[in-house]
Amino acid sequence: MKTESGVQNVSAPFAGRKRSSLLDDARRDRERESARKDRESASSTSTSPGPSQSRGGGDGCVFEEKGGKVVLHVLFALGNEKSIGFFKAGKVFETFEAKLLHVESRPRKPKNNTCDLEFFIKCEIHSSDIEVFINSLKRVADDVRTVPEEKVPWFPRKIRDLDRCNHLITKFDPELDQDHPGYSDREYRKRRASISQLAFNYKQGEPLPIVEYTQEEISTWRQVYCTLSSIYPTHACRQFLEGLEQLEKEGLYSEDNIPQLRDVSTFLKERTGFQLRPVAGLLSARDFLSSLSFRVFQCTQYIRHASAPMHSPEPDCCHELLGHIPMLADKEFAQFSQEIGLASLAASDEDIERLSTLYWFTVEFGLCKQNGSVKAYGAGLLSSYGELMYALSNEPEYKAFTPEEASVQAYQDEAYQPIYFISDSFEDAKTKLRQFSSGIQRPVAVRYDPITCSMEVLDGPAKIQRALGALQEELKTLSSALETLQR
Ligand SMILES: [Fe+2]
Repeated sequence: MKTESGVQNVSAPFAGRKRSSLLDDARRDRERESARKDRESASSTSTSPGPSQSRGGGDGCVFEEKGGKVVLHVLFALGNEKSIGFFKAGKVFETFEAKLLHVESRPRKPKNNTCDLEFFIKCEIHSSDIEVFINSLKRVADDVRTVPEEKVPWFPRKIRDLDRCNHLITKFDPELDQDHPGYSDREYRKRRASISQLAFNYKQGEPLPIVEYTQEEISTWRQVYCTLSSIYPTHACRQFLEGLEQLEKEGLYSEDNIPQLRDVSTFLKERTGFQLRPVAGLLSARDFLSSLSFRVFQCTQYIRHASAPMHSPEPDCCHELLGHIPMLADKEFAQFSQEIGLASLAASDEDIERLSTLYWFTVEFGLCKQNGSVKAYGAGLLSSYGELMYALSNEPEYKAFTPEEASVQAYQDEAYQPIYFISDSFEDAKTKLRQFSSGIQRPVAVRYDPITCSMEVLDGPAKIQRALGALQEELKTLSSALETLQR
C-alpha cells in the first residue's frame, strides 16, 4: 500500500498534520501491540494468549479464521456534512489492509439537526489487528461497534466432511462397560474391535466394507430375525411392514444371512436417496444428526453378544438393519429424517439435546395409531422383542405426542422406557416434528443442495434469490404435470 511518509515530512499544513496523525496513531498502536505480544511470548509460555484472546476486539464478531485472517462485521456512523470522515475511515481500512467483503450505508436518525450516515462493513482482517483496528476507527467515526459475537458451531458443509463426524460415546462400549454381555469375552471384544476398525478407516465415497460374518454371528441374527418377525405383523406400523417386505423380496433380508451394508445402501439410495456409512459405535448426537441432513445414516456393523440375542445395550447391526432400515425405505420418513438433521446444523447445544430427545421418543421409541390400533414405528422397539411387547402391553404410561413435551421428557437408556408417546397417526408425528424442527432458532439459514450433496449457507440476497429461482422452476414443473393430468 502507499505510505504517508511524504506527508509526515511536510511541515506546517494543519490538515496534513491531522492526516498523518491518524495513520501514525494506527501504526504506533499496531507496533505497540505487536511488541507487547512478542514480549509476552518471549517471557512466558504459560501466559501466552489463547485463541480467544488472540482474536481480540473485545465485543468483536469472529466467524471464521483462516490463515490468521478473520471476518469481522463492523458498524459505525459518520456525519455527512463533510465527506472527510468517510475518507479518514477509508484510510483506517487501507492501513490495516482490510479486505472489504460487503459495504452498506443508511441514514441514521437525525441528531442535533444533522443527518448522519451509518455504515455496515464486512471485512477480512488479520486476527492480531482487530483490537487496534477498532480503536483506530473510533478516532475517526462515531458509535463504532461490532455485531455481537455469534459463535456458529461447526457443521459439515460437504458430504466428505462427514469423515469428521465420528465422535463416539463410550458409555456402552464392551471394553469399558461391565454390564455389557461381551465385557468378559475377550474374543468377542477383539472381533467387535476389528469390525469397528473398518469404520474408523472408512472415508466418504469409498465402497462400504464387507464383513464376513461367522456362523455364530449368523445364528444370533437368525434368532433375532425369526423372533421379531413373528410379532411384526401385529406390532409394527404399515410403513415398516412395507419396507421389510421389499427388502425380503429383493433377497436382501432373510434369516440365513446378515445383510451387508453395501447392498442395503444401494437399495435405500434407489428408493429414498438415503445411503449408509459404517460407524464404530454410539455416535454423539450432533454428529449423528448432522449425517442425517445429508441423507446419510451411520450404521454399526458388529453384532450383539451371542449370549444375549434379545438384548444389546448399544446399537448393533440387528438394531440398525431391523429397526431403522425398513423405515428409511419410506419416502416420507426419509424426508422427515433429513429435516431433523437439517434442523440440527449450527444449532446450540441445548437445541441439540432437545432434538436428540425428540428423536429418541419418536424415531427410536415412537408409537402411532393406525386403523384403530397402536403400532410401533420406533427402531428401538422394532429391534427389541422384549420392549416391543412391553411398549404395547398397556403396562407403561402413554401420552399423546407433542414435540414440546417429548423433547424435554426424561428418558431411559438402560431399561425400558417409563413412558411412550403415541401420535394420532404416522403423518401426525411427522407434521408435528417438522413444525418443531423448523422453529429451532439457528444463527445461519442452511439449504441442502442435492446436486452437489452440500450445504449452502443462505447469507446473502443473491443466494436466496438463486434458491427461490430453483424453487420456482420446480413449481412450474409440478403445475405443468398437474395440468397434464387434468386434461
Ligand atoms: Fe437407533
